[in-house]
Amino acid sequence: MTTTQIDMLNARYGIPGALAFEGFHGAFVMARIRNEHATAEICLHGAHVMAYQPHGQAPVLWMSAHSKFEANAPIRGGIPICWPWFGKHPQDPDCMPFHGFARLADWSVCATRALADGSTQLDLQLPASAPLIAMWPEPWELRLQVTVGKTLRVALTMCNSGDVVATHATALHTYFTVGDVTAVRVLGLEGCRYLDTLTTPPAMKTQAGAVTVGEEVDRAYVDTEATCTIEDPSMGRRIRIAKEGSRSTVVWNPWIAKSARMPDFGDTEYPGMICVETVNTATDVRVVAPGATHCIAATISVEPLT
Ligand code: BG6
Repeated sequence: MTTTQIDMLNARYGIPGALAFEGFHGAFVMARIRNEHATAEICLHGAHVMAYQPHGQAPVLWMSAHSKFEANAPIRGGIPICWPWFGKHPQDPDCMPFHGFARLADWSVCATRALADGSTQLDLQLPASAPLIAMWPEPWELRLQVTVGKTLRVALTMCNSGDVVATHATALHTYFTVGDVTAVRVLGLEGCRYLDTLTTPPAMKTQAGAVTVGEEVDRAYVDTEATCTIEDPSMGRRIRIAKEGSRSTVVWNPWIAKSARMPDFGDTEYPGMICVETVNTATDVRVVAPGATHCIAATISVEPLT
């Protein structure tokens, strides 16, 4: 995007003292938000929330120091939007991008708002360009609303604008900053069934107690609408993830060997992050009738661990 285009975005959608658009990493553009509650950065590439930090807190979202910022690559960290499929494409895993195309595409700004409670809101839309239609021919509209305040709320709404039912999977693939993942407990999933994707073949298991990480973890918990909390004694805080429109949750940490295999993930970064993802996957893929919408949302907040 050129400087003139960024100036035009600021003239139309900037909120003096709260939201401004700026270029970074060459052609990338972000909305930088600073209000009475928090700061945040949202990249238009992928509608990617890259940072959220309530005043007086450490960063809530984790970002790899090795993330690529390239047109056809996802950003490693923050909140990638996986849509309209999660993981491998169900029919064409070799040619279609892993986790769908929404995180690889450039989104447009639709609206910005300063809310009465001091929060700042940004609405983005994914334009249905020819390359995306080639990958997903059924007509759709996709919007992301990000609300930055005392909490961070991210809401993705899909409208089926075609005339046949549409099936899609989604993830708000959220990377959280933790002090030491081996000391973290994720609560809210006790007793839930999950698909362990690391066994061959993937096996259904039942979660006993809190989720802890002492090796690679890659699990899709099903039939759960529960709020999850990440208890992080090293950072002395609890991160709460409440969700709407989601009956599945993915927990992921790549651990040592997978970190080494990923070119955009530092070999020693895995102890500082955990993904707790608000998703529609496995038994929770969504079938949307013509003209209907489906909204999946996560509300993230932080409190001291007492
Ligand atoms: C998780 C998957 O949601 O995303 C993992 O469960 C995957 O299997 C991870 O490795 C990261 O995916 P990507 O495409 O961003 O490297």
